[in-house]
Amino acid sequence: MSLDKLMTAIAEQGWYVWDDFLTAQQVHELRETIPADWHKAKIGRSDDAHRDVERRSDKIQWLKADMGLPVMDYLERMEQIRLHVNREFFLGLFEYEAHFAKYEAGDFYEKHYDSFQGNTNRRLTTVFYLNENWTAENGGELKLYDNKDRLIDTLAPRAGRLIVFLSEDFPHEVCVSHAQRYSIAGWFRINGVTEDRLDIAR
Ligand code: OGA
Ligand code: MN
Repeated sequence: MSLDKLMTAIAEQGWYVWDDFLTAQQVHELRETIPADWHKAKIGRSDDAHRDVERRSDKIQWLKADMGLPVMDYLERMEQIRLHVNREFFLGLFEYEAHFAKYEAGDFYEKHYDSFQGNTNRRLTTVFYLNENWTAENGGELKLYDNKDRLIDTLAPRAGRLIVFLSEDFPHEVCVSHAQRYSIAGWFRINGVTEDRLDIAR
């Protein structure tokens, strides 16, 4: 069962690629429910806003259960993962937050960590892709590195693919996309968040 494979992979290597996490039909329905309410993604505190613009150029919107059934279903699947991870690893993952991201042709996200030790409460990252018929010419790959900056894998943002990795251990980047590229990036975090120290803006 794939959930067991996910647990084993996280335990042994800290990352996992789960292809066909959702069917083509489910991906289609999820895409249909995305509201047309994109805003520019920011990272860092607001005083860093200028620099952030150069580090990523995608647009985002946070998932909310009231966006519709496909979103509720997606969040429910993440809840199942959260419960399994907590049971197996005692990680104490407390909540899940996720945003849709849209990369237009030319957009990218430079190499980064989703979480620095002691800086955020993010522990486990998920990235899910919504792009049917993605081709190599479209670029937009996710490059995953280890914490010694060695390239681990180059992953196309193919519809139905879910990538999961420990947020503090794997720097990663989104290569320049040459086509419209949709994803859902999400994070399981542990409790103890203080809003002014988040590395994201809502
Ligand atoms: C992020 C991120 C990767 C992707 O939003 O932090 O790394 O492939 N996204 O969309
Ligand atoms: Mn990231």
